[in-house]
Amino acid sequence: MTYTPHPGRYERMPYKRAGRSGLLLPALSLGLWNNFGHDHPLETSRAIVRRAFDLGITHFDLANNYGPPYGSAEENFGKLLHLDLAPFRDELVISTKAGYDMWGGPYGEWGSRKYVLASLDQSLGRMGLDYVDIFYSHRFDPETPLEETMGALDTAVRQGKALYVGISSYSARKTREAAAILRALGTPLLIHQPSYSLLNRWIEAELLDTLADEGIGCIGFSPLAQGMLTDRYLGGIPEGARAGRESTLSPALLTEETMSKVQALNQIAGRRSQTLAQMALAWTLRDPRMTSTLAGASSVAQLEENVAALERLDFSGEELTEIDRYATESNINLWAQSSSV
Ligand SMILES: NC(=O)c1ccc[n+]([C@@H]2O[C@H](COP(=O)([O-])OP(=O)(O)OC[C@H]3O[C@@H](n4cnc5c(N)ncnc54)[C@H](OP(=O)(O)O)[C@@H]3O)[C@@H](O)[C@H]2O)c1
Repeated sequence: MTYTPHPGRYERMPYKRAGRSGLLLPALSLGLWNNFGHDHPLETSRAIVRRAFDLGITHFDLANNYGPPYGSAEENFGKLLHLDLAPFRDELVISTKAGYDMWGGPYGEWGSRKYVLASLDQSLGRMGLDYVDIFYSHRFDPETPLEETMGALDTAVRQGKALYVGISSYSARKTREAAAILRALGTPLLIHQPSYSLLNRWIEAELLDTLADEGIGCIGFSPLAQGMLTDRYLGGIPEGARAGRESTLSPALLTEETMSKVQALNQIAGRRSQTLAQMALAWTLRDPRMTSTLAGASSVAQLEENVAALERLDFSGEELTEIDRYATESNINLWAQSSSV
């Protein structure tokens, strides 16, 4: 059936400017890292993506290796564009990334010009697109000159294959260097994509100040700590959940200590008349320097619950103080190596 988007889709979603740029992003963006590969039924992915667009989510985030298998999330998203969303291309912000292992041999990962530009061509081919809106360096490469990686991002823009560029999981220091290189090339650094949640607060120490100084936007990923900051694991590991299958969420991360913090946060959320997922999302947006929060979903129901978080974004001082007692580092930042340089 032909897809007709909801006519009221722009009425409730807040849109925020990415740094000092002209680009507005929805407060909540949808990530396709998990749940959109060939291991999931296309019809489920299709229902989630359609519902997201109907609810005002204009930004869909991908990477070359999202799946599994690698590349399959982009392939499936390409099918969904073809089936439903292609007529609305100018209403969409589609991002992809290169940096992690994608293909064999010396040119299939990290930050060389050779890899980064070949990967973008492959991503465009899988999605059936002429250009992406944002192209990211997915992680900092300590062995490649930063000028080379940033030069490749600049080339992607000059080739018309990307409108804007971003970096992900770079330290504050490397972010400043990257921004300076890109500025000199004439391609501003639009946005940084770091991990950020109640259990992973590394960006608060320095990165957010750097981004504000440089006029760079911030889209925090894994705001639900891959599902730990929801009701998913409050009573153990249910069948089908990310921690219950071979995935990036190791059950070893669900320690007794961390889960007791999650239980306490869940109580606070209840007093705010929110679910834990909703409070966790709202909390990541409490700082005006945050442009968007980038969550995943494995069902339409999860997505709808998450969008409803935007109805209650305010926190009292007392709530924030109480949350701070439990919102402490919990060794879940799997991307720390990239930002440690
Ligand atoms: N730049 C990078 O290096 C990087 C790294 C990681 C992620 N990301 C981006 O960030 C996006 C989000 O990452 P993520 O998937 O880890 O994010 P997340 O939002 O922290 O976790 C999403 C998972 O939480 C569960 N969930 C979501 N809403 C729920 C709800 N209302 N109730 C109960 N459970 C709920 C689902 O788990 P189940 O599947 O178990 O149902 C879902 O798959 C990715 O898709 C990607 O775009 C970027």
